[in-house]
Amino acid sequence: MDFIDIAKTRYSCRKYLDKKVEKEKLDKILEAAHVAPTAANCQPQKLIVVQEKEGLEKINKAARTYGAPLVILVCGDVDRVWTRPYDGKKHHDIDTSIVTDHMMLQATELGLGTVWVCYFDPEIIRTEFHLPDNLEPVSILVIGYPDGEPQDPDRHGMTRLSLDSIVSYETL
Ligand SMILES: Cc1cc2nc3c(=O)[nH]c(=O)nc-3n(C[C@H](O)[C@H](O)[C@H](O)COP(=O)(O)O)c2cc1C
Repeated sequence: MDFIDIAKTRYSCRKYLDKKVEKEKLDKILEAAHVAPTAANCQPQKLIVVQEKEGLEKINKAARTYGAPLVILVCGDVDRVWTRPYDGKKHHDIDTSIVTDHMMLQATELGLGTVWVCYFDPEIIRTEFHLPDNLEPVSILVIGYPDGEPQDPDRHGMTRLSLDSIVSYETL
């Protein structure tokens, strides 16, 4: 698939089959995370792969994971991150989002469904996974085999703002 076809094929999947994701596929998803760019190559990401029942139950205390068999908890290390000197902005949220997007699109290319979840209680995640203060849970990537019909890859004309309304050239 061309990149644009992968991007259009991806949709937020909120129902999964009770079927494990093969190790080879998980490894490819993690390889996509490995090659993602980060600000100043600081690589502040810490990925916690959760597949066991006990771990999934812990995640489900903080977030909805729609019955998926695989969840990747994406954390950012605020002690290992590029900080912009002008305003002190730490870039771990941006870096981890690029990592998450790489993994999500790789999973799509492998025929898997995904949904990116930020609606979670970070304190519960911190407690359940014993995260040290420097590790911020930023995103949860839910992955598995979709149960049900995929969304139309050509839906974006209806579901997105027009390109004209979000892009301008040379000036706002
Ligand atoms: C940063 C981010 C956070 C999101 N958080 C959630 C979430 O907590 N729960 C959820 O069901 N979907 C979540 N989504 C999925 C969006 O709702 C979804 O991408 C958007 O509605 C567009 O639909 P599509 O992904 O099917 O194209 C999130 C997506 C992004 C990019």
